[in-house]
Amino acid sequence: MISPKKPDLLIKGGQVVTLRGKKVPVVGSDLEDLGVIPDGCVLCDSTGRIMAVGSYSDMSSQFSLSKVTTLEVQNRVLLPGFVDSHAHPVFSGSRTEEFQMRAKGATYMEIHEKGGGILHTVRETREAAGETLRELARARIQAMFRHGSTTVEAKSGYGLTTESEEKCLDVLRDLSEELPVEIVPTFMGAHAIPPEYESSPEEFVDLVVSEMIPQVAVKAEFCDVFCEKGAFTPEQSRRILEAGKRYGLSPRIHAEEFSDQGGAALAVEVGALSADHLLEIGDSGIVSLAQSGTVATLLPGTPFFLGMDRYAPAMKLLERGVPVALATDFNAGSCLGLSMQMVISLACLRMKMPVEAALIGATLNGAYTLARSDRLGSIEVGKQADIIILDVLDYREMPYVFGCNLVKSVIKNGKIMDFDHDRRFAHV
Ligand code: NIG
Ligand code: FE
Repeated sequence: MISPKKPDLLIKGGQVVTLRGKKVPVVGSDLEDLGVIPDGCVLCDSTGRIMAVGSYSDMSSQFSLSKVTTLEVQNRVLLPGFVDSHAHPVFSGSRTEEFQMRAKGATYMEIHEKGGGILHTVRETREAAGETLRELARARIQAMFRHGSTTVEAKSGYGLTTESEEKCLDVLRDLSEELPVEIVPTFMGAHAIPPEYESSPEEFVDLVVSEMIPQVAVKAEFCDVFCEKGAFTPEQSRRILEAGKRYGLSPRIHAEEFSDQGGAALAVEVGALSADHLLEIGDSGIVSLAQSGTVATLLPGTPFFLGMDRYAPAMKLLERGVPVALATDFNAGSCLGLSMQMVISLACLRMKMPVEAALIGATLNGAYTLARSDRLGSIEVGKQADIIILDVLDYREMPYVFGCNLVKSVIKNGKIMDFDHDRRFAHV
């Protein structure tokens, strides 16, 4: 029988970082070898899958390539598309004033406690029309894509009413139909206690559990919660994540971002694929993660943007065998950065991660936390052809050259994407 799958695109002649043959999530000595092919080729089929990865001579002996569209990428690096597994791109308004206050020494939590921070963005997001939010989020997600993120996890959480949380998830559904980026929707109605529940937070948790989750669960895959002093206690977080599970939402958690609340242990207890932030994780949290399959998703763009000296203990986590993923945490106030390239530079420079572990964190391990590592996160036969071409000679140059976009081309689902639709990034 003739296979319906035909060679459709040949990417020819770069340094191919395959990440082949890895058991996921990737830990230990498996983080050292990226399966690099120095002068390699990738062949994609007409359904957007990878048909072959290897040298040109191997490939041309197996397939007839003369009529196949060929993208020449000599002297460039091919990576799996970045999987940004933690982002909050749906919001309206700007917190430039807070940026100035922070520059003068105010802390993020001080601003949060005075009703600024997340609640500032909540006020503006509640007022914004769905169409406005869509335009804003579209521009941001397109910019993420141009910077190499072919998959983006995106949270609601700036609405905090059933209606406005739904409005934000609808924006994500519309954009995932419209844009080439794979958008993974997460419900985060428990992002902050809204002002109308300030004196009765437990009632807000009741609302999340008995109204929001039942109503919006069909529009999301994951449920996230901000477990922190001044946000949700571990008990409240557990209630919310367990309720999400009953409605088919897989849990993830903002844990130990500013204080150690035992969020990492809670992540393990509820079976979360990921516990995120972890700047303040203590030894017992590390032990819990090490004994489970829960990934530590580290977001070094956030302490960078908040002007902090403290970063998550990436090397301690890695040494104890905890799998690490990296993501941007792109959001309205604590990290306006959307570049996974910048995140990788910060991971190497501020958390001392080897570049190999950082690249795996930004691709395959991120895909694992989104339950997509069977299809995304590496350049292997049978996987979806989500590949980025970087303007460097060797993958080790990627974090070394920082602050500019090294992505020359993005191949999404086997198709070369063009970026002919520049829009303003922050405002409509
Ligand atoms: O991951 N920590 C909670 N959520 C975001 C911040 C959101 C905001 O400041 O608007 C974070 O850092
Ligand atoms: Fe976040």
